Amino acid sequence: MRDNVTILNHPLIRHKITYLRDVSTDTKSFRELASEIAMLMAYEATHDLALEPVEVTTPLETCKGERIAGKGPVLVPILRAGLGMVDGILKLLPRVAVGHIGLYRDEKTLMPVEYYVKLPDDIADRPVLLIDPMLATGGSASLALTYLKSKGVRNLTFLCLIAAPEGIQLLDEEHPDIPVYAGVLDRSLNEQGYILPGLGDAGDRLFGTD
Ligand code: PRP
Ligand code: URA
Repeated sequence: MRDNVTILNHPLIRHKITYLRDVSTDTKSFRELASEIAMLMAYEATHDLALEPVEVTTPLETCKGERIAGKGPVLVPILRAGLGMVDGILKLLPRVAVGHIGLYRDEKTLMPVEYYVKLPDDIADRPVLLIDPMLATGGSASLALTYLKSKGVRNLTFLCLIAAPEGIQLLDEEHPDIPVYAGVLDRSLNEQGYILPGLGDAGDRLFGTD
């Protein structure tokens, strides 16, 4: 696996992903867990966020401090399921802009189909965190990354909760320059393109539509 792919495997993340997978986890708990895991992952994935110097006045004196540089990062969930990671990350980065890329996988071809895009005008000048709970074939993440690059984004990171080896390999081939953070790496895909053991359809479990 290339150097810029990080499988977090942190005990808290592994613990929470176990409950996220469980078929008996209800919608409320699924939402809470997805949000909590996303927050933990974002802490790791922002470890090299650029800072700028700032002066701060404490009750005793003025000293040098640091803050996130410029307008800060932009969060871009891939709709629908990426929305389930937004709240958790906003707990850490409450003032960031949130863009949206709407993609769904065609059930027969498994190819992603774009249906909605709304991004900040100045996205090219800002670090972007692209988020989606599932990296299965990798087609959706790859298309979204290609789109963001075409808009001039240079500082781009992809975060997913569960990755399949097939998705990691596709991103390796098509976007070797992009850092990838995954909570855990699963075994494989089934014939319908679902991750095994996975958690089923992330969008349906988040939105109660199954
Ligand atoms: C899911 C998931 C990813 C995609 C992953 O979305 O949220 O976007 O599948 O699969 P891939 O790596 O093979 O492209 P889905 O198409 O089910 O849409 P939804 O989020 O609206 O349910
Ligand atoms: N999308 C999902 O929601 N789950 C999978 O296992 C694969 C793609």
